[in-house]
Amino acid sequence: MSATPANNRRVLSGMRPTGALHLGNYHGALKNWVELQYQYECYFFVADIHALTTGYEDTSQLESNVWNVVIDWLAAGLNPASSTIFIQSRVPEHSELHLLLSMVTPLSWLERVPTYKDQQEQLKDKDLAMYGFLGYPLLQAADILLYKTAFVPVGEDQVAHVEITREVARRFNHIYGREPDFEAKVEKALKALGTRNSTRYSELRRLYQEKGDAEAIAKAHSLLEGTARLTLADRERLIGYLEGTGRSYLVEPEVLLTATPKVPGLDGRKMSKSYGNTIGLREDPDQVAKKLKGMVTDPARQRRTDPGDPDKCPVFDLHKIYSSSDTQAWAAQGCRTAGIGCLDCKKPVIDAVVAQLRDMQARAKEFEENRDLVRGIIAEGNEKARDVARQTLDEVHQAMGMNYR
Ligand code: TRP
Ligand code: SF4
Repeated sequence: MSATPANNRRVLSGMRPTGALHLGNYHGALKNWVELQYQYECYFFVADIHALTTGYEDTSQLESNVWNVVIDWLAAGLNPASSTIFIQSRVPEHSELHLLLSMVTPLSWLERVPTYKDQQEQLKDKDLAMYGFLGYPLLQAADILLYKTAFVPVGEDQVAHVEITREVARRFNHIYGREPDFEAKVEKALKALGTRNSTRYSELRRLYQEKGDAEAIAKAHSLLEGTARLTLADRERLIGYLEGTGRSYLVEPEVLLTATPKVPGLDGRKMSKSYGNTIGLREDPDQVAKKLKGMVTDPARQRRTDPGDPDKCPVFDLHKIYSSSDTQAWAAQGCRTAGIGCLDCKKPVIDAVVAQLRDMQARAKEFEENRDLVRGIIAEGNEKARDVARQTLDEVHQAMGMNYR
């Protein structure tokens, strides 16, 4: 039940490099990341180890997939001056934290994550009865906890993974936050807070512990954040003491659910690689124009003279993403009165998609032709990420009694 510390603005998210990105990935995640990078302290990484959990057999495309994802991110507007962009496996702390957390993660927690059985059923042609696949959500937990992440921007389908991350953090803090002299250290930390603040803190703690008052805990967090006199360790102790665990080494993250538009594929179903109905970010724009001309529309509109219903038409969902409200009104009206044909209706959408793809592809091409620049961006991102990751791992080692050398 830990609220996120008030001044923690850290955002982290990852994407598996499983092939060419498409408009669904762009509107469903990437576009949002591009906006977040100017509001938060952002970390975005290519989850290449996660890609191995289902793609362990054929890794021949892994490297090219990794670089293509990075180039698509950059072409879409992720800015290495604003966000830290890196590759999961190049920051080995992810793997180590995953392993250490695996010691205290009950098997049953992993088995009951809904994606575990769902994915196994969906990918029947692959043998997913692997240790690594079961551990998928725990690796994701390690990704998130390693950076003391406050917010994880992900879709609905990933909420369960953030939830298990919170549980793992709580369990870790509970088991290892009990320093031998925890109570005495809390006493000292309370003194450091000053009389007024420590009275207020104790009051809020009582409100939370006796009445489960969530607001009290949020207030206590901001009180602790606002006190410059506290050391990081003391702050973690007082946060843990609030909730009745031990010192709070690992931070419980929250999901940052963002409204993303519905992105239909060419067949009218949700755009998804597994449906084979995608429009790739690197596809030839002329090909894309052709494909869009053939895109499914309201099935009731068989002939040009039949009126249609834009609410039943996937093309209209694309209008909602790409068209001004005037154009949308024009399309809806023309559709309902059979005043325009579907090809007329599609034209502004096709033009907008094609223009967007040309734009992104021009930028992608620049990065394609300057691989050293891309490698440099990632090398720098890996290093920046590692600096943060190492610090957390040091604390984890200390918590677990493993800081011998
Ligand atoms: N599982 C995520 C997905 O499939 C990718 C991912 C891996 C991730 N690690 C993460 C997302 C950490 C957010 C945070 O989309
Ligand atoms: Fe869809 Fe437009 Fe055709 Fe109506 S006119 S069915 S909204 S493509």
